[in-house]
Amino acid sequence: MRVLGIETSCDETAAAVVAPGPTVVSSVVSSQVDLHARFGGVVPELAGRAHLERLTPVIDEALSRAGPAGEPPVDAVAVTCGPGLMGSLLVGLSHAKGLAMAWDVPFVGVNHLEGHLFASLLDHPDLDWPLVVLLVSGGHTVLVLVEGLGRYRLLGQTLDDAAGEAFDKVARYLGLGYPGGPAIDRVAREGDPRAFAFPRAMRDEGFDFSFSGLKTAVVRSVDKAPDASSEDVAASFQEAVVDVLVAKARRAAAATGARGVCLAGGVAANSLLRRRIEEACAQDGIEALVPTMAMCTDNAAMIAAAGQWRLAHGGPSPWSLGAEPNLFLADAD
Ligand code: KG4
Ligand code: ZN
Repeated sequence: MRVLGIETSCDETAAAVVAPGPTVVSSVVSSQVDLHARFGGVVPELAGRAHLERLTPVIDEALSRAGPAGEPPVDAVAVTCGPGLMGSLLVGLSHAKGLAMAWDVPFVGVNHLEGHLFASLLDHPDLDWPLVVLLVSGGHTVLVLVEGLGRYRLLGQTLDDAAGEAFDKVARYLGLGYPGGPAIDRVAREGDPRAFAFPRAMRDEGFDFSFSGLKTAVVRSVDKAPDASSEDVAASFQEAVVDVLVAKARRAAAATGARGVCLAGGVAANSLLRRRIEEACAQDGIEALVPTMAMCTDNAAMIAAAGQWRLAHGGPSPWSLGAEPNLFLADAD
């Protein structure tokens, strides 16, 4: 059974074909970063329009890279139905419904966050549960206990900014451009992470996160020391974020008896976070599951993989399924 996955929740237009396993047969991602860079962030109106222009060629490319196919070319269509930008989600959802109707194959809506969890499965097909997943992206920062596929327990989440959002805002403040995460990661390599003692909000209590105070602390420090090097500020900021993320994930794994900690989402591409989580897990004698770079950022292979599982465990979605900008993770049963 081959599933076509479609992802248009934010600023990546993506399509992929996934076979059982799950195994990626083809995956195409068209990033809109250049389009939004001069505005310093994603402009929803532009994102929706760009998805509309790009989605058909991206799907064609994914199907043609998947090689010779029968009629219909796939056995099901999976699409992100939330969370994300309303106008962007609707483009993918309408396309998916149209294709599934034309091909007379099942159609299934996928939660983008569940997609990020399935990205780990594509990298590590022999995943063993329970696992603590730290899902850190531009829109979300959540700590989830995954007891098995489709069985999620929310341990904590951000009370204000997402981790990626904090990276993007601080990078913009430092004039490092957009997206801010990769820019801070790069610049921080030349800086001293001990130059500024930025706050570690709620580091040792509970499993919720808060990053807005850290962002304000960065602004105050730079106001007081305008000659401070951006490298030092970036390195100290990154150190503070990673310190909190790793401390909480590690504590969550100990509290729940998880076999390991799995990273997911765009911020999982951060080099310091990747290194620190591996060191922490090695010390604690548990597994660190760090995704490949392609599986950190938004892609449609993870949506197709999650859709394949959802189809097998709940069946197709109704044609009336709508886009849900604030969808949250829910158990399958
Ligand atoms: O998962 P993702 O591609 O899109 C969302 O669903 O939000 O995550 C994008 C976020 C952005 O905030 C970006 O700055 C951040 O991931 N990011 C990073 C790095 N690469 C991407 N943050 C820190 N370090 C990185 N190397
Ligand atoms: Zn994402």
